[in-house]
Amino acid sequence: MSKKLKIGLFGFGVVGQGLHDIIRGQDLNLEIIKIAIKNADKKRTLDAHLFTTDHDELLNNPEINTIVELIDDADVAYNIVKRALISGKNVVSANKKMIATHLAELVDLQEKHNTSLLYEGSVCGSIPIIRNLEEYYDNELLHGISGIFNGSSNYILSKIFNENLEYGVALKQAQDLGFAETNPILDVGGYDPKFKLAIATAHAYGLFINPDKIFNIGIQHLSENDIRFAREKNFKIKLVPTARKISTKQVVTYVMPKFVKSDDFLFNVENEYNGVTVQAAFADKQFFFGKGAGGHPTGAAVLSDIAALRYDYRYEYKKYHQHNGLEHTDDVSLEVYLRYTHEYTVEKLQIENIVERFTRDDYKYVIGNINLKSLLANRELLEQKDVFIAHTGKYTYTEEQIQTVAKEQALVS
Ligand SMILES: NC(=O)c1ccc[n+]([C@@H]2O[C@H](COP(=O)([O-])OP(=O)(O)OC[C@H]3O[C@@H](n4cnc5c(N)ncnc54)[C@H](OP(=O)(O)O)[C@@H]3O)[C@@H](O)[C@H]2O)c1
Repeated sequence: MSKKLKIGLFGFGVVGQGLHDIIRGQDLNLEIIKIAIKNADKKRTLDAHLFTTDHDELLNNPEINTIVELIDDADVAYNIVKRALISGKNVVSANKKMIATHLAELVDLQEKHNTSLLYEGSVCGSIPIIRNLEEYYDNELLHGISGIFNGSSNYILSKIFNENLEYGVALKQAQDLGFAETNPILDVGGYDPKFKLAIATAHAYGLFINPDKIFNIGIQHLSENDIRFAREKNFKIKLVPTARKISTKQVVTYVMPKFVKSDDFLFNVENEYNGVTVQAAFADKQFFFGKGAGGHPTGAAVLSDIAALRYDYRYEYKKYHQHNGLEHTDDVSLEVYLRYTHEYTVEKLQIENIVERFTRDDYKYVIGNINLKSLLANRELLEQKDVFIAHTGKYTYTEEQIQTVAKEQALVS
């Protein structure tokens, strides 16, 4: 028999209300005792006695055994989750920024206080990727995980490529439909997918990487010329977070626009949908597809976590605790398309092995190799308006990386 969950819900916005819609009328052996919100004067669809602005009414209530944290403020969410775990309450959260930033401490707190924190809804909405990485791929050699983790930038790119909309018009549409964050740079600049990538990497490889150490660049400077370049080659441009094993001991992570070919699973992931490609040694390539945002899809993932808590489910973080010798590195060479104005940009970024170069007064680009370390060191340069960079999909490995990968492949075959 599962135990009855008495829930304290923080946040009654898009996801909080979505969750409530799903729970309503179902016999799930759970009850929402109280809902904390920020603005006491806002009109609510439920009885006023359920709502409070006083967090203590939930966190200090001994009847409440489960906190569901669905607010849009990462710092306040961190304090709520921390207090809840310390006081012995299990927690479900969908706050990727908060989780990615504090993961090591949150794991420690769960262990110290014998509590559980689940967060499937924080990565790619309705797609069940965290529990799969944690459980299903536990013993698999994972070569890589990548995908489309941000619905609003994907919506913008779909509208540009499929309907010829201008960037600004597509962004406005995404905002009007509620897909985009209030500050759109979090989506289009690749920050939101970076937080999700940090969480996915923790469960894929047991590596807890501070999001500040992960390179991200977005689609905000995409120009007509870049779009035409991709179209002429039958590519689409997608914003792709990637975690990839480049040797038996090294994992690279980054978020960057990428030219995607028509045979790539991600090519047909459009609008607000998300997709995750997992490349595993034995299972080979697998693809997860679904709605990456929205009240009901995300609410469904949150409910799945709540249901798992009824049976005392917790992430064991086995790969993290195993100390498998994997390390995070930025020492990898990626082939990129770089559009620029001043030759200085190409020199400063130390683009090597240039295979293509185009120069016209109003449009210049090179295709060549760049080390991820150089990208990280030159973020400010890359964020200038006249620069756009995209991965072509090719890597160049060092001799040592080639040898260790060959050893791993020999193990598989
Ligand atoms: N929207 C999505 O599709 C989606 C998908 C995946 C994950 N998420 C994550 O889910 C979380 C919630 O997102 P959302 O889209 O539902 O946000 P939202 O629609 O903006 O709602 C936020 C809710 O949090 C409440 N709130 C804000 N600050 C608070 C505080 N200090 N104390 C108590 N309540 C507070 C707000 O109260 P008021 O009602 O009084 O304003 C509101 O009810 C975020 O972490 C987001 O990143 C969202």
